[in-house]
Order: sequence, then C-alpha cells, then structure tokens
Amino acid sequence: MRWQVVGLTLFLLLVLGAAKSRHGSRRGHRTYRRYTPDWTSLDARPLPAWYDEAKFGVFVHWGVYSVPAWGSEWFWWHWKGEHQVLYELFMRNNYPPGFSYADFGPQFTATFFDPEHWADLFRAAGARYVVLTTKHHEGFTNWPSPVSWNWNSQDVGPHRDLVGELGTALRKRNMSYGLYHSLLEWFHPLYLLDKKNGFKTQYFVSSKTMPELYDLVNRYKPDLIWSDGEWECPDTYWNSTNFLAWLYNDSPVKDRVVVNDRWGQNCSCHHGGFYNCQDKYMPGSLPNHKWEMCTSIDKSSWGYRRNMVMASIASEEEIISELVQAVSLGGNYLLNIGPTKDGVIVPIFQERLLAVGNWLSINGEAIYASKPWRVQADKNSTSVWYTSKGPDVYAILLQWPENGVLSLASPTTTSTTEVKMLGLKGNLKWSKDPVQGLLISLPLLAPSDFPVKYAWTLKLTGVE
Ligand SMILES: *[C@@H]1O[C@H](CO)[C@@H](O)[C@H](O)[C@H]1NC(C)=O
Ligand SMILES: *[C@@H]1O[C@H](CO)[C@@H](O)[C@H](O)[C@H]1NC(C)=O
Ligand SMILES: *[C@@H]1O[C@H](CO)[C@@H](O)[C@H](O)[C@H]1NC(C)=O
Ligand SMILES: *[C@@H]1O[C@H](CO)[C@@H](O)[C@H](O)[C@H]1NC(C)=O
Repeated sequence: MRWQVVGLTLFLLLVLGAAKSRHGSRRGHRTYRRYTPDWTSLDARPLPAWYDEAKFGVFVHWGVYSVPAWGSEWFWWHWKGEHQVLYELFMRNNYPPGFSYADFGPQFTATFFDPEHWADLFRAAGARYVVLTTKHHEGFTNWPSPVSWNWNSQDVGPHRDLVGELGTALRKRNMSYGLYHSLLEWFHPLYLLDKKNGFKTQYFVSSKTMPELYDLVNRYKPDLIWSDGEWECPDTYWNSTNFLAWLYNDSPVKDRVVVNDRWGQNCSCHHGGFYNCQDKYMPGSLPNHKWEMCTSIDKSSWGYRRNMVMASIASEEEIISELVQAVSLGGNYLLNIGPTKDGVIVPIFQERLLAVGNWLSINGEAIYASKPWRVQADKNSTSVWYTSKGPDVYAILLQWPENGVLSLASPTTTSTTEVKMLGLKGNLKWSKDPVQGLLISLPLLAPSDFPVKYAWTLKLTGVE
C-alpha cells in the first residue's frame, strides 16, 4: 500500500515535470514553447538579454537619397509625392529636364566605402550594435534582392552587397548587426495598387515585402530587425504576425533576434519587441517595457545632406546627456549618421561618435549591462541620473554644482558607504546631512586632470 502511494507520487511528479518542460520552464532553461501569429503570444516572448545589455548602437541611413543629398532622405517624396516648390526648383536648377529619381541610382557609387574602417569607427564609438538601412521608403535595396529588379546595389550604383560587407566587418569585431527595413515603398506600382484597393489586396506584400524580409533573415542572420514604414496599413495587411511567428519559432536567428514595434498601424508603442514609439522618443519616467530612443547627429535629417549646417549638429554634451538619460530610464540609445554617396562618414560625425566612445571608455561601467535604479533622476536635481549594477549605484552628474559639493537626496548611506569618481583613483569625502542628504565633496583638480569634461560618474557602494 505504502509503496503504491510512493509509486503514484513519483509517477505524478514525472508527468508534471514533463508537462512543465513542454510548456517552457523556469529561468535559466531554454523554453520550447511555440509562438502563434497573434500579438498576445508574440508580445509574451522574453527579449533576448544581449539587447538590453548593449545600451548603445549606431544607426546608418544610406541609400540613393545620399546622391542628391539635399533636404533629407525623404527627398523623392517631397519632390514627386508632395511637389514641394523648393524641391522642384532644386531639380530645375541643378539637373537636366526629364532627370528622374532613378537617374540618381548610378551615381550612388560608394567609391570609398571601406566596411573595415566603418566598423573600426563604430567600435571606437563604443557601439555594441549597428543598424543599417537595407531599404528605405524609396525601395532601393542595399543588397542583391532577387525581387528588386534593377533597383538594388548589385545591379546599380556600387555593384556591391553593402549589407553583406558591413555585416562581415561588424561580426569580426563582435558587434551585433541590425537591419532597418521599410515595409512600404512610396512609389512601388503594386503598393500603389493595394492602396487603391483600400489595402484589401496584398500583391505588394506577397511579391516584395515578405520575400525580402525572409531573404534578409536567411542571408544575413541579423540580430535585430528594425522595422519602419508601417503607418499606412494595419498589421494584417503586412502579414506581420505571421512573419514574426516564423522569426521566433523557426528562423535561423530565433533565439537571439530582437525586433522593434513598427509592424502596422497603431502597433508602435504597443506590440512587438522593444518599443521605439515615435522617432526621438524619450519618456518622462521609467516605462515598464524595454524601449530605445533613436535620434540623429544631424537634427534635421537622417540621410546625409550637403546643405547641413553646424547649428543643426547635436553637441557632444547633448548626445552624452541623452545617452545617460535614456539608459537611466531603462532605454537604449541609437545614434544616427548619414554617410555620403561615396561611402564617406564626414569628420563632424566621426568626431561626435569618437566623443561618445571616449566618454564610454571611462564611464562604460555605469552604462553597459546596467539596470535602472529605484530612482532615476535625483529628487534634488534634474541633472543627476542614476543607474545600477548589482549592489552598486552610479550617479551621473550632467552639471557641476557651484560650490563643488553635490547633494544627493535619494541614496541612503550605511556604515560601508564609499564614493568614487570613475576614472580617478581614491575615494571622495562625503557626509550625511539630515536636510540635504548625502553631501559629496567633489575633487578640486585642474580641468585637464578630470577623466571627462562633462557627465562625471560617481560610483556609490554600500548605499541603499
Ligand atoms: C562580445 O561582446 C559581448 C557583449 O558585448 C561580450 O559579452 C563578449 O565577451 C564579447 N566577446 C568577445 C570574444 O570579445
Ligand atoms: C502570410 O503568411 C502566411 C504564413 O506564412 C502565408 O501562408 C501567407 O501566404 C502570407 N500572406 C501574404 C500575403 O504574404
Ligand atoms: C488606429 O488608430 C486610429 C485612431 O484611433 C484609428 O482611426 C484606426 O482605425 C486604427 N487603425 C487600426 C488598424 O487599428
Ligand atoms: C536638496 O534638497 C534640500 C532639501 O530640500 C535643500 O536644502 C538643498 O539645498 C538641495 N540641494 C540642491 C543641490 O538642490
């Protein structure tokens, strides 16, 4: 009798154990669940950890718009979609009559494009991932797409596989590779036909969008798919959930790939992997979902434009402040540059990227693989942002306090509290004030002896 009970118990435990591993299991174990093509299932997928740990990426907008390189990467739309006067004048004044957008294609030469140099620069910038436009709304593919006849970088212009070449160079340097892909194409005849049919037909999706997305995944095995151009139609038109279910269940990158949230009208900020919400989105407080701020060094354009002026270039302080704030609020920061049609990254963009890399070389400990702390911005000051790693707390100061004494309201000190500035040896003096909180005496040094020129990081150990 007793052995029967033990036997039955063992049997039940085995059955329950087997059931558990079929439906996925606790932390640390690979889950074997399959995703179904609906948002409830897809949204429940845990985000692969590498993405949150990476924190900083470089975004690259490069395409045929880099040839006129005037206005922005929306050149074709402003010219032929909206007939903006300035664009029509620009064409009349600079190109022969009858010159079409397609005629810019052969001038997209990428003559000086050296993927090894680009990858060295991005590595030196401290980027852990890079996102390249494989195809923007103009439809030109930066890889030899079999369904983009005569409108791809192998047949026209560079005569090279730009997507493949950059990927190889990045992987050599242990950086993750993200592929930007626009679902829509402004002037594709099949897209226009579907639009005329109120998006009740899917000629464009079945013959262009989906074949290209599957091709990109199978060919380049991206770590990230950065979707865009979704806004005119529902996700059911784009067939997004079917694609994502395949991507998460059966694709060659199913365990590692990360996607954003632009998969159909009203998806952004609600469905998908991490959230981009709008371009340049920065939340006011800590969101409960992983997010990324994408922004551009040239504040007025994502693609290179020859009429760029210094006033539109984000300063080093602005860029680093945004990076710090984004990470403190649980986000990633994706910073864009637009190379020229020759494949040159102009020195002002190089300088800004290297400034981030220089700052991260000292302060990266407070950024990479950090987690938001229980407080994001200090109660006392909007210019102190916190991050944490295990028991350690990092307070990043964007402004130097006038009297050289920083007062922090949020951390609670203990008998083991110590304060250091990253990049300097030794501990800083601190005291506890009942009203002002933790008072930290910042070091008195010659400006040249400071590890960085702004956004100094204090590492607080033994605080709660
Ligand atoms: C590659 O990068 C990841 C994350 O940035 C890091 O954990 C890993 O140690 C790196 N591997 C090598 C070989 O550098
Ligand atoms: C949508 O995806 C499903 C599943 O992969 C496929 O059977 C169907 O043909 C796709 N529809 C279009 C329009 O691509
Ligand atoms: C998206 O939201 C707008 C505004 O609420 C609504 O008019 C539209 O029908 C929605 N589209 C879809 C596909 O749900
Ligand atoms: C911090 O807050 C306390 C209490 O309100 C105040 O006395 C102190 O001056 C504040 N410090 C700073 C740097 O704002």
